[in-house]
This record gives sequence, structure tokens and C-alpha cells, in this order.
Amino acid sequence: MPVYKPTPIPASEITPRPLFNDRRRFMQIAAGASLAALLPPSVWAADNKLAGVKNPAYTVPEELTPYKDVTSYNNFYEFGTGKDDPAKNAGGLKTRPWTVTVEGEVKKPQVFDLDTLMKMAAIEERIYRLRCVEAWSMVVPWLGFSLAELIKQVQPTGKAKFVEFISLNDASQMPGQQTSVLAWPYREGLRIDEAMHPLTLLTFGLYGELLPNQNGAPVRVVVPWKYGFKSAKSIVGIRFTEQQPVTSWMLAGPSEYGFYSNVNPTVDHARWSQAKERRIGEFFRRKTLMFNGYEQEVAALYTGMDLKANF
Ligand code: MTE
Repeated sequence: MPVYKPTPIPASEITPRPLFNDRRRFMQIAAGASLAALLPPSVWAADNKLAGVKNPAYTVPEELTPYKDVTSYNNFYEFGTGKDDPAKNAGGLKTRPWTVTVEGEVKKPQVFDLDTLMKMAAIEERIYRLRCVEAWSMVVPWLGFSLAELIKQVQPTGKAKFVEFISLNDASQMPGQQTSVLAWPYREGLRIDEAMHPLTLLTFGLYGELLPNQNGAPVRVVVPWKYGFKSAKSIVGIRFTEQQPVTSWMLAGPSEYGFYSNVNPTVDHARWSQAKERRIGEFFRRKTLMFNGYEQEVAALYTGMDLKANF
């Protein structure tokens, strides 16, 4: 059965962080200074910049994970199961032209061209924690806008209870799809109120540039209070349904990967504890926060629910 292995990160994979460990520079970020000053010039020489207005409502009081780690330590099984496989194998992914088909229980089903989608609302920069089910985490400056902006446009019907996300299915571009490590295409899902929550980000970029392919170009979701696998990459379809969707990870390991998958330090994974996590680039493990630190914002979505049963 395809499963995540909770392997510790070898020291060789942990990048030193001369740039971001500098406290003064970090304070500059906190004070709102341009990220550009902190990034390697190569990032800014490229023509794949993406501007986003910082939204101070969405930040965390922790250091950013270096760009190099965010873009070289990835899970994207369509390009292999190793952490460095996506960066090695995703270079050829054709991300234009690209469309996202929005269908199902909506009054206005539509096929959105990527450029149209990106202009639907103002792109913001939001600094979110991303906590992987494997017990490592990152802090990333994402670029995008609330998925709710798109949902409002397509007008869900009264029957729309869930939202399914479907990633690209093309084995000719995605070598990992020649194996059956997961049921392809990669599918994920949210309850509609989770999808409408302002934190749920339709994401086009990170660190001031368009998403690198290994991070899910050209469009993905980021759901920061849930384990990282809920944040589907390289999305081509969004479907509104009455029934709870069956996700690729639920098919792969029903006792290990639930539909909700809210970050919860008190509910262990079937094979390991979720109480602590290793922030990529740090040596000591830190305590995992309830709902990944977004408890104030999202706890009300789960009032009265047994979070152990609904893992
Ligand atoms: N989306 C697709 N299509 N395929 C995947 O394998 N992996 C998930 C998620 N989205 C995955 C995916 C997992 S397990 C994690 S932790 C995050 O992507 C990692 O996102 P990042 O590489 O940008 O940090």
C-alpha cells in the first residue's frame, strides 16, 4: 500500500539558512520591507514575477522557510515519491495554456482560462504555515486570493455540500503517473464551508513569483489548517457535489488518511504521533499547534464534531 514514510530528514537535506536566520532581516520582513531585498537575484531576473499585496491579516510570527527549501523539498507524487523528485522531474510540465473546469452543483458552470482566473480578484501575499502529515512543516509567502471569490462567481446550488479538486492527469508529462502509487488523477476535497473559508487560498505563486512546477503550477489550493495533502496541486477541475468525495489518499489508506485531516496534535496518525513537527531548516522539533495555529479562525467549523472519529 502506498504510504508516507515518516523518515527523519537527513542532515544533508537541511539547507543552512544564512539569509533567513539573520534576525535583523527577519524583523525587516515583519516590518513589511520588500521580500525582494532578501531573495537571491536570480529569482528577480526571471520574467515569472507575480506581484501580490501583503495582507497583514494573514501572517505568522515565525521565520520564513528559505525559498530553496520550499522549492526543493516537495511532495508531488505525479513526479515521484522522493522529496527531491518533483524539483528534478517537473521542469517540463506545460502550464500554459491551462484551464480549470468548474462544474457540478453550480448555477454557472464555467471553464476558466488561467489568465481569466488570475484576474478574478486582487492577488495577495499571505504567509501561512504548511504542516505535512509526515510531521515536517514550512512557512511560505503564498500569492493568491480566497477560493471563495471563485465560488461566489459560479453560484453553488442548494445541493452543493462538498467541493472536489482534481489535479492534472497526464502520464506523458507526469512520470509518477506511470506507477500506481496513488489513484490518478490526484483528487482532494473539502466541505463547502471549509472551501468558502477566507483562509482557503487559490494559489498562483510564492515568494513573489509564479508557482514553480514542483509546487503545483500553475494553480493549486492551500488549506493551512489541514495536513498538506489536502492542498491539491496543478488543478484542472473543481467539482461541487452533494456527496462527500473520495480522495486519492482515502483510497490509498482509509485508516490513515481521513477526509477532514485537520492538523491536530491530540489525534495520532495510525502509525505515528502528530504532537510535534520538524520545521524544515530547524534542528529541534516544535509542538504542533491545534488546527496548525488557526484555531481561532476555524474551530467554529467543527463545533460538536468528534475530531477523533472525523480524522
Ligand atoms: N497535489 C498533488 N496533485 N499531488 C501530490 O502528490 N502532495 C500533497 C500536496 N498536494 C500532492 C499534492 C502533499 S502530501 C503536500 S505535503 C503538499 O502538496 C506539499 O506542497 P509543497 O511541495 O508546495 O510544500
